[in-house]
Amino acid sequence: MQVEEYSKQTMAFLSAMFMASLSFFSVSMAFPGFNWGGGGGGGFRGGVYSGLFPEYYQYSCPQANDIVMSVLERAIKNEPRMAASLLRLHFHDCFVQGCDASILLDETSTIRSEKRSNPNRNSVRGFDVIDQIKAELEEACPQTVSCADVVALAARGSTILSGGPNWELPLGRRDSKTASLQGSNTNIPPPNSTLQNLVTFFSRQGLDEVDLVALSGSHTIGVARCVTFRQRLYNQNGDNQPDETLERSFYYELASTCPSSGGDNNISPLDFVSQTKFDNYYYQLIMEGKGLLTSDEVLLTGKSDKIMNLVKMYADDEKVFFKQFAESMVKMGNISPLTGYNGEVRKNCRQVN
Ligand code: HEM
Ligand SMILES: *[C@@H]1O[C@H](CO)[C@@H](O)[C@H](O)[C@H]1NC(C)=O
Repeated sequence: MQVEEYSKQTMAFLSAMFMASLSFFSVSMAFPGFNWGGGGGGGFRGGVYSGLFPEYYQYSCPQANDIVMSVLERAIKNEPRMAASLLRLHFHDCFVQGCDASILLDETSTIRSEKRSNPNRNSVRGFDVIDQIKAELEEACPQTVSCADVVALAARGSTILSGGPNWELPLGRRDSKTASLQGSNTNIPPPNSTLQNLVTFFSRQGLDEVDLVALSGSHTIGVARCVTFRQRLYNQNGDNQPDETLERSFYYELASTCPSSGGDNNISPLDFVSQTKFDNYYYQLIMEGKGLLTSDEVLLTGKSDKIMNLVKMYADDEKVFFKQFAESMVKMGNISPLTGYNGEVRKNCRQVN
């Protein structure tokens, strides 16, 4: 059963390789270290082959992305914030033991669900939409499209449907049989991080400063709860004073929705100019001292010229931001995927088979 399923994937993989060999050829020319024997094409991470490739479902489930997009369209029309929530889900999946859908697993006697972690509890959402997508995929192509790929496809689709860039998405991730509550608590950066902290959290995942600044641009959509930015308003440095980098009128506005105690779940947009549109206002607002989280504003004020200049560049030129965002999303999506015989394709994203 396992072997049969795997050889089906292998066949699909080989045919996809053949069909795509032309484009892979040009890639291999660009990367002299490319090795055809290393397990197949597409999806590089720092020049190292990740095992994922965009045509993975070309024969086994050609309609996969259409199904994802149709469910997303309905869900996002019904609730525009859902695009942001699904984009974030991919981030919180990938930063914890790789992009393996570990975040989707519910608590059992053997699994300590990541949904309970500090960064996720009361915060991460979109599980019902993932379930809907998966249910439609199971109907069209049983046990073929992994939950980890569903999350990656949903993140890309949500970006597109919010007006952001499109990109070629390497696929073929398999799903974990485990989750890591502790990994979720320790690998996802907190919102009051210093810039140095942020750089460290990202470099642990093989992501650099450029990725940090570009991917933070996800905060051009969605919202954050009072509890994630309260420290900035009332006691940023242990001196009972607001964060001095916070623009004054913006401070008053935030204080009116986020009192010094209580109202933990009151929400504020991460980009108050256009909270459902994927654009570069996030960076423009940071330039004005109107980044919502400490982790947003420190990109400008954290005393790294390189990082500050990236913020300025993306604030000035949305095209440059979109291009880098797409590139960094591919890089994030390639973090330690399970491939080959590792992991499984879950039938239900909430539990192991
Ligand atoms: C750089 C470090 C980052 C920090 C410290 C951070 C922190 C946060 C926090 C605290 C929230 C609000 C959560 C809540 O109040 O419940 C949030 C929301 C969000 N984050 Fe991040 N984040 C970071 C990077 C990223 C990345 C890399 C992505 C995606 C690639 C992302 C996508 C989002 C989105 C889309 C939302 C809005 C979610 C919604 O409205 O449901 N963030 N982030
Ligand atoms: C961030 O917040 C946590 C939890 O409230 C706190 O323990 C930590 O000291 C804060 N870190 C910084 C750099 O302010």
